[in-house]
Amino acid sequence: MIQKLIAERIKYRGYHREPYEQYQENVRQHYSGIAGKFLRSCSIVSLHEPLASSFFKRGAFPVQGSKNILDVGTGAGQLLTHLVRHADADARIVATDLSTEMLKRAAERFADGRIDYVTAALTELPFEDNTFDCATCGWVLEYLPDPEPGLREISRVVRPGGRILLQCTENTVFGAMSSRLWKCRTFQRAELQEECQRVGLNWQRELWFTKAHRLFRLGGIIVELTKTANHHEHGDAESAASAE
Ligand SMILES: C[S@@+](CC[C@H](N)C(=O)[O-])C[C@H]1O[C@@H](n2cnc3c(N)ncnc32)[C@H](O)[C@@H]1O
Repeated sequence: MIQKLIAERIKYRGYHREPYEQYQENVRQHYSGIAGKFLRSCSIVSLHEPLASSFFKRGAFPVQGSKNILDVGTGAGQLLTHLVRHADADARIVATDLSTEMLKRAAERFADGRIDYVTAALTELPFEDNTFDCATCGWVLEYLPDPEPGLREISRVVRPGGRILLQCTENTVFGAMSSRLWKCRTFQRAELQEECQRVGLNWQRELWFTKAHRLFRLGGIIVELTKTANHHEHGDAESAASAE
Protein backbone atom coordinates (compact mmCIF):
# COMPACT_ATOMS: atom_id res chain seq x y z
CA MET A 1 0.00 0.00 0.00
CA ILE A 2 2.75 2.45 1.05
CA GLN A 3 4.81 1.26 -1.95
CA LYS A 4 1.89 2.11 -4.27
CA LEU A 5 1.41 5.55 -2.72
CA ILE A 6 5.10 6.38 -3.11
CA ALA A 7 5.09 5.04 -6.65
CA GLU A 8 2.09 7.22 -7.52
CA ARG A 9 3.82 10.29 -6.10
CA ILE A 10 7.06 9.87 -7.99
CA LYS A 11 5.97 8.45 -11.32
CA TYR A 12 6.62 10.45 -14.45
CA ARG A 13 3.60 12.17 -15.96
CA GLY A 14 5.04 13.53 -19.17
CA TYR A 15 5.05 12.26 -22.73
CA HIS A 16 2.15 9.86 -22.55
CA ARG A 17 -0.23 12.72 -21.76
CA GLU A 18 0.77 14.75 -24.78
CA PRO A 19 -1.00 14.84 -28.15
CA TYR A 20 -0.05 11.95 -30.38
CA GLU A 21 2.38 13.60 -32.82
CA GLN A 22 4.02 15.59 -30.07
CA TYR A 23 4.72 12.51 -27.97
CA GLN A 24 6.26 10.71 -30.96
CA GLU A 25 8.54 13.67 -31.64
CA ASN A 26 9.59 13.82 -27.99
CA VAL A 27 10.35 10.10 -27.83
CA ARG A 28 12.37 10.36 -31.04
CA GLN A 29 14.38 13.28 -29.67
CA HIS A 30 14.86 11.57 -26.33
CA TYR A 31 16.28 8.39 -27.87
CA SER A 32 18.11 9.96 -30.78
CA GLY A 33 20.03 12.04 -28.25
CA ILE A 34 22.00 11.33 -25.11
CA ALA A 35 19.49 8.90 -23.55
CA GLY A 36 19.79 6.63 -26.59
CA LYS A 37 23.58 6.80 -26.48
CA PHE A 38 23.67 5.43 -22.95
CA LEU A 39 20.71 3.08 -23.26
CA ARG A 40 22.76 -0.04 -23.84
CA SER A 41 25.25 0.70 -21.05
CA CYS A 42 22.33 1.25 -18.66
CA SER A 43 20.78 -2.05 -19.70
CA ILE A 44 24.03 -3.82 -18.94
CA VAL A 45 24.52 -2.13 -15.57
CA SER A 46 20.90 -2.80 -14.55
CA LEU A 47 21.38 -6.38 -15.89
CA HIS A 48 18.24 -6.06 -18.02
CA GLU A 49 20.04 -7.16 -21.16
CA PRO A 50 22.09 -10.08 -19.81
CA LEU A 51 19.31 -11.42 -17.59
CA ALA A 52 16.81 -11.45 -20.45
CA SER A 53 18.84 -14.28 -21.97
CA SER A 54 17.24 -16.67 -19.47
CA PHE A 55 13.84 -16.21 -21.13
CA PHE A 56 15.17 -17.50 -24.41
CA LYS A 57 17.57 -20.10 -22.99
CA ARG A 58 15.47 -21.88 -20.44
CA GLY A 59 12.73 -22.33 -22.95
CA ALA A 60 10.41 -19.79 -21.32
CA PHE A 61 10.00 -18.05 -24.66
CA PRO A 62 11.56 -20.32 -27.27
CA VAL A 63 12.00 -18.82 -30.71
CA GLN A 64 13.31 -21.94 -32.41
CA GLY A 65 10.90 -22.93 -35.17
CA SER A 66 9.62 -19.36 -35.62
CA LYS A 67 10.40 -18.26 -39.17
CA ASN A 68 9.15 -14.67 -38.88
CA ILE A 69 10.05 -12.78 -35.72
CA LEU A 70 9.27 -9.17 -34.87
CA ASP A 71 11.07 -7.01 -32.30
CA VAL A 72 9.16 -3.79 -31.58
CA GLY A 73 11.06 -0.80 -30.16
CA THR A 74 14.41 -2.48 -30.67
CA GLY A 75 16.35 0.32 -29.00
CA ALA A 76 20.00 -0.65 -28.67
CA GLY A 77 19.17 -4.27 -29.54
CA GLN A 78 18.81 -5.53 -25.97
CA LEU A 79 16.33 -8.27 -26.97
CA LEU A 80 17.56 -8.52 -30.53
CA THR A 81 20.86 -9.91 -29.26
CA HIS A 82 19.01 -12.91 -27.78
CA LEU A 83 16.84 -13.36 -30.85
CA VAL A 84 19.93 -13.45 -33.05
CA ARG A 85 21.50 -16.06 -30.79
CA HIS A 86 18.50 -18.36 -30.57
CA ALA A 87 16.57 -17.98 -33.84
CA ASP A 88 16.85 -20.56 -36.61
CA ALA A 89 19.42 -19.98 -39.35
CA ASP A 90 16.63 -19.41 -41.89
CA ALA A 91 14.47 -17.17 -39.68
CA ARG A 92 13.71 -13.59 -40.68
CA ILE A 93 13.94 -11.07 -37.85
CA VAL A 94 12.39 -7.61 -38.25
CA ALA A 95 13.67 -4.93 -35.87
CA THR A 96 11.53 -1.78 -35.63
CA ASP A 97 11.82 1.49 -33.74
CA LEU A 98 10.42 5.00 -33.88
CA SER A 99 13.98 6.32 -33.79
CA THR A 100 16.12 5.62 -36.87
CA GLU A 101 19.13 6.65 -34.80
CA MET A 102 18.44 3.81 -32.34
CA LEU A 103 18.13 1.33 -35.21
CA LYS A 104 21.50 2.50 -36.54
CA ARG A 105 23.04 1.91 -33.13
CA ALA A 106 21.51 -1.58 -33.00
CA ALA A 107 22.63 -2.36 -36.56
CA GLU A 108 26.23 -1.56 -35.63
CA ARG A 109 26.11 -4.43 -33.14
CA PHE A 110 24.91 -7.17 -35.45
CA ALA A 111 26.32 -8.26 -38.79
CA ASP A 112 23.48 -10.67 -39.44
CA GLY A 113 21.76 -11.04 -42.79
CA ARG A 114 18.58 -12.35 -41.12
CA ILE A 115 17.72 -8.91 -39.70
CA ASP A 116 15.72 -6.18 -41.45
CA TYR A 117 15.63 -2.78 -39.76
CA VAL A 118 12.43 -0.79 -40.23
CA THR A 119 11.70 2.66 -38.79
CA ALA A 120 8.07 2.46 -37.65
CA ALA A 121 5.77 3.41 -34.81
CA LEU A 122 4.31 0.61 -32.75
CA THR A 123 0.86 1.94 -33.54
CA GLU A 124 1.39 1.83 -37.33
CA LEU A 125 3.37 -1.28 -38.14
CA PRO A 126 3.86 -1.57 -41.92
CA PHE A 127 3.11 -5.30 -42.08
CA GLU A 128 0.23 -7.46 -43.24
CA ASP A 129 -2.11 -9.09 -40.74
CA ASN A 130 -0.85 -12.38 -39.22
CA THR A 131 2.71 -11.97 -40.57
CA PHE A 132 4.76 -13.01 -37.55
CA ASP A 133 5.04 -16.26 -35.60
CA CYS A 134 6.19 -14.38 -32.53
CA ALA A 135 7.07 -10.88 -31.34
CA THR A 136 9.03 -9.21 -28.58
CA CYS A 137 8.23 -5.76 -27.19
CA GLY A 138 10.52 -4.63 -24.39
CA TRP A 139 9.83 -1.42 -22.46
CA VAL A 140 8.01 0.38 -25.27
CA LEU A 141 4.30 0.30 -24.49
CA GLU A 142 4.80 2.69 -21.57
CA TYR A 143 5.59 5.49 -24.05
CA LEU A 144 2.20 5.44 -25.74
CA PRO A 145 -0.49 7.95 -24.74
CA ASP A 146 -2.85 4.95 -24.72
CA PRO A 147 -1.58 1.34 -24.73
CA GLU A 148 -4.56 -0.09 -26.58
CA PRO A 149 -3.65 0.93 -30.18
CA GLY A 150 -0.15 -0.49 -29.64
CA LEU A 151 -1.38 -3.80 -28.28
CA ARG A 152 -4.01 -4.01 -31.00
CA GLU A 153 -1.34 -3.50 -33.66
CA ILE A 154 0.88 -6.24 -32.22
CA SER A 155 -2.16 -8.51 -32.09
CA ARG A 156 -2.93 -7.71 -35.73
CA VAL A 157 0.51 -8.57 -37.14
CA VAL A 158 1.08 -11.76 -35.09
CA ARG A 159 -0.62 -14.90 -36.41
CA PRO A 160 -3.36 -16.59 -34.38
CA GLY A 161 -1.72 -18.77 -31.75
CA GLY A 162 1.50 -16.73 -32.06
CA ARG A 163 3.38 -15.64 -28.92
CA ILE A 164 4.48 -12.25 -27.66
CA LEU A 165 7.06 -11.45 -25.00
CA LEU A 166 5.98 -8.16 -23.43
CA GLN A 167 8.03 -6.19 -20.90
CA CYS A 168 6.58 -3.08 -19.21
CA THR A 169 7.52 -0.75 -16.40
CA GLU A 170 5.47 -1.58 -13.30
CA ASN A 171 3.94 0.84 -10.85
CA THR A 172 6.32 0.08 -7.99
CA VAL A 173 8.81 2.40 -6.34
CA PHE A 174 11.63 1.19 -8.59
CA GLY A 175 9.35 1.36 -11.63
CA ALA A 176 8.35 4.92 -10.78
CA MET A 177 12.01 5.91 -10.38
CA SER A 178 12.79 4.35 -13.74
CA SER A 179 9.80 6.12 -15.31
CA ARG A 180 11.33 9.46 -14.30
CA LEU A 181 14.69 8.58 -15.76
CA TRP A 182 13.30 7.22 -19.03
CA LYS A 183 10.29 9.54 -19.24
CA CYS A 184 7.62 6.87 -19.52
CA ARG A 185 4.56 5.86 -17.56
CA THR A 186 4.06 2.77 -15.37
CA PHE A 187 1.38 0.05 -15.38
CA GLN A 188 -0.56 -1.87 -12.79
CA ARG A 189 -0.52 -5.58 -13.68
CA ALA A 190 -4.30 -5.96 -13.58
CA GLU A 191 -4.82 -2.91 -15.77
CA LEU A 192 -2.34 -4.16 -18.37
CA GLN A 193 -3.82 -7.65 -18.32
CA GLU A 194 -7.25 -6.21 -19.03
CA GLU A 195 -5.90 -4.16 -21.95
CA CYS A 196 -4.25 -7.27 -23.41
CA GLN A 197 -7.36 -9.43 -23.10
CA ARG A 198 -9.43 -6.73 -24.78
CA VAL A 199 -7.40 -7.00 -28.00
CA GLY A 200 -7.24 -10.79 -28.02
CA LEU A 201 -3.89 -11.26 -26.32
CA ASN A 202 -4.08 -13.94 -23.63
CA TRP A 203 -2.06 -13.36 -20.48
CA GLN A 204 -0.34 -16.76 -20.66
CA ARG A 205 2.23 -16.56 -17.88
CA GLU A 206 4.27 -14.04 -15.95
CA LEU A 207 8.05 -14.28 -16.06
CA TRP A 208 10.77 -12.90 -13.78
CA PHE A 209 14.44 -12.27 -14.37
CA THR A 210 15.40 -14.27 -11.26
CA LYS A 211 13.79 -15.73 -8.12
CA ALA A 212 15.00 -12.66 -6.21
CA HIS A 213 13.19 -10.40 -8.67
CA ARG A 214 9.99 -12.38 -8.13
CA LEU A 215 10.38 -12.31 -4.34
CA PHE A 216 10.96 -8.55 -4.14
CA ARG A 217 8.66 -7.66 -7.07
CA LEU A 218 11.51 -6.13 -9.06
CA GLY A 219 12.26 -5.99 -12.78
CA GLY A 220 8.86 -4.90 -14.03
CA ILE A 221 6.03 -6.74 -15.73
CA ILE A 222 7.29 -9.47 -18.03
CA VAL A 223 4.65 -11.64 -19.58
CA GLU A 224 4.18 -14.17 -22.32
CA LEU A 225 1.02 -13.48 -24.31
CA THR A 226 -0.61 -15.63 -26.95
CA LYS A 227 -2.85 -14.31 -29.66
CA THR A 228 -6.28 -15.84 -29.34
CA ALA A 229 -7.15 -17.87 -32.41
CA ASN A 230 -10.74 -16.67 -32.67
CA HIS A 231 -10.57 -13.08 -31.48
CA HIS A 232 -13.07 -10.77 -33.23
CA GLU A 233 -12.60 -7.05 -33.25
CA HIS A 234 -15.60 -4.96 -32.19
CA GLY A 235 -16.04 -3.73 -35.75
CA ASP A 236 -16.14 -7.30 -37.12
CA ALA A 237 -18.71 -8.36 -34.56
CA GLU A 238 -20.87 -5.33 -35.27
CA SER A 239 -20.74 -5.73 -39.04
CA ALA A 240 -21.48 -9.46 -38.68
CA ALA A 241 -24.47 -8.62 -36.48
CA SER A 242 -25.82 -5.97 -38.86
CA ALA A 243 -25.42 -8.36 -41.83
CA GLU A 244 -27.75 -10.91 -40.15
C1 LIG B 1 13.59 1.69 -23.20
S1 LIG B 1 13.95 1.43 -24.88
C2 LIG B 1 13.73 -0.32 -24.99
C3 LIG B 1 14.74 -1.00 -25.84
C4 LIG B 1 14.68 -2.53 -25.90
N1 LIG B 1 13.46 -2.98 -26.52
C5 LIG B 1 14.84 -3.21 -24.58
O1 LIG B 1 14.24 -4.29 -24.40
O2 LIG B 1 15.58 -2.74 -23.72
C6 LIG B 1 12.51 2.04 -25.68
C7 LIG B 1 12.63 2.07 -27.19
O3 LIG B 1 11.31 2.15 -27.71
C8 LIG B 1 11.27 3.09 -28.75
N2 LIG B 1 9.90 3.59 -28.84
C9 LIG B 1 9.23 4.37 -27.98
N3 LIG B 1 7.97 4.59 -28.40
C10 LIG B 1 7.85 3.91 -29.55
C11 LIG B 1 6.78 3.72 -30.47
N4 LIG B 1 5.59 4.28 -30.28
N5 LIG B 1 6.99 2.96 -31.55
C12 LIG B 1 8.20 2.36 -31.76
N6 LIG B 1 9.25 2.50 -30.94
C13 LIG B 1 9.07 3.27 -29.85
C14 LIG B 1 12.29 4.14 -28.37
O4 LIG B 1 12.75 4.87 -29.50
C15 LIG B 1 13.37 3.29 -27.73
O5 LIG B 1 14.34 2.89 -28.66
